[in-house]
Amino acid sequence: MKIGVLTGGGDCPGLNAVIRAAVRKGIFHYGDQFVGFLEGWRGVVDNRTMELDLQAVAGILPRGGTILRTSRTNPGKRPDGLDRCIEMLRQNGIDVLIAIGGDDTQSVALKLHERGARIVGVPKTIDNDLSGTDFCFGFDTAVSIATEAIDRVHTTAEAHNRVMVVEVMGRDSGWIAIYSGIAGGADVILIPEHPFDIDDIAERLRQRHTRGRYFSIVVVAEGARASKELASQHVTSSKLDEFGHVRLGGIGNELAAEIEQRTGFETRAVVLGHIQRGGSPTAFDRVLATRYGIGAIDMVHAGESGCMVALRGTRIISVPMAEALGKTRVVDEDLIRVAEGLQHPTGEEVAGSGS
Ligand code: F6P
Repeated sequence: MKIGVLTGGGDCPGLNAVIRAAVRKGIFHYGDQFVGFLEGWRGVVDNRTMELDLQAVAGILPRGGTILRTSRTNPGKRPDGLDRCIEMLRQNGIDVLIAIGGDDTQSVALKLHERGARIVGVPKTIDNDLSGTDFCFGFDTAVSIATEAIDRVHTTAEAHNRVMVVEVMGRDSGWIAIYSGIAGGADVILIPEHPFDIDDIAERLRQRHTRGRYFSIVVVAEGARASKELASQHVTSSKLDEFGHVRLGGIGNELAAEIEQRTGFETRAVVLGHIQRGGSPTAFDRVLATRYGIGAIDMVHAGESGCMVALRGTRIISVPMAEALGKTRVVDEDLIRVAEGLQHPTGEEVAGSGS
C-alpha cells in the first residue's frame, strides 16, 4: 500500500517515534511505501512531500519536534481546500493517510474521510485534552518538564521566602497543571475546570505562612480564570489561528501581582511556555507513541478509516474520530479530589508536611 503521513497542530515530543514505528512496521511487515506530507495539512494542499523510507526514520526515536514539520493550516478555511486535499492524495497515489494530530487535525481528517478519502488518526497533544483516549503522547514529557521546573522553583522560593507562581500550558484543560502540581508538591493548583477566587487563594497562602511556612508554590494553567477579578481567560494575542483559537497566556504574572498586593508576600511568576513542548520524549511517551504508530498501521491494513488509535486502560484500541471531537476532555474529578486531599484544612500544619 502507499501510505501518506502528516503531523499537524502544535508539535509534541513523540511525533517522530510514531512516524518511525508506522514506517518500520509498514515496510517490514506489509511491504508498504510511505510519503510524508510536509507541515501538516499545508503540505497536502500545496503538494509538498518527502519520501519516508527506513533511512529517513533512522535515529529519530529520541528526537523532539517532527521530521515532517507542522503547521496549524486548516484546508477548510480555503474555498477549495478540502477538494484540493482529496485531489493531492489521489495525485500522489495515496491509499490511506495517517494524520497525527490533535482535535483540529482530526476534524479535517474526518471531513476528508466523509468525502471518501481513507484516513486513520493518531492522537497527539501535550494538553491531553482529546476525548476518546486516556492519554496522548507528549503529555507525560510536558508534565516531567513542568515538574522539574517546579522542583527548581521550590528551592529558590524557599531561599527567598517567596511565593512563586508557575504558569503551565494546557489550553482549556488543566491536565498539565494538576499532574505537575501534584508531582511537584504545589500548595495551590489552579485549573480552567474550576474558576478560583483570588481572595481565597490569598487567604490560603496567608494561613499557610501563619503555620510557620515561609514560602509557597502556586501552579496555574494558562487557561485558568478567576470567578470575579481576572474572570476572563488571559490571552497574549486575540488574533485567531485558522482553527479559531486565541493564544492563551499571561495569567501567571497577573496572579502574582494580585497575590503580592493582597498578602504582602514577595511573589514572582515563571511562564514555562514552549519549553514544555520541546526536546526529547520521556520513555513513557516513546513507548506510547510507538504503540500508536504500530496500532495505526495495523488499522490501515484492517481496512479501517475515519477511526483513531487510542489508549483505553492499558490497551490500544480503535475509536471513531467523531468520538474524539467536539468536546474538550477535562480533568477527572477523581484527580481534583486527590489534589484537594493534600490541602491542609486550617489550623496547625503537621511538621514536615506540605511542600
Ligand atoms: O495545544 C498545545 C499548546 O502548546 C497549548 O498548550 C498552547 O496553548 C498552544 O499549543 C500554544 O500554541 P502556539 O505554539 O501556536 O503558540
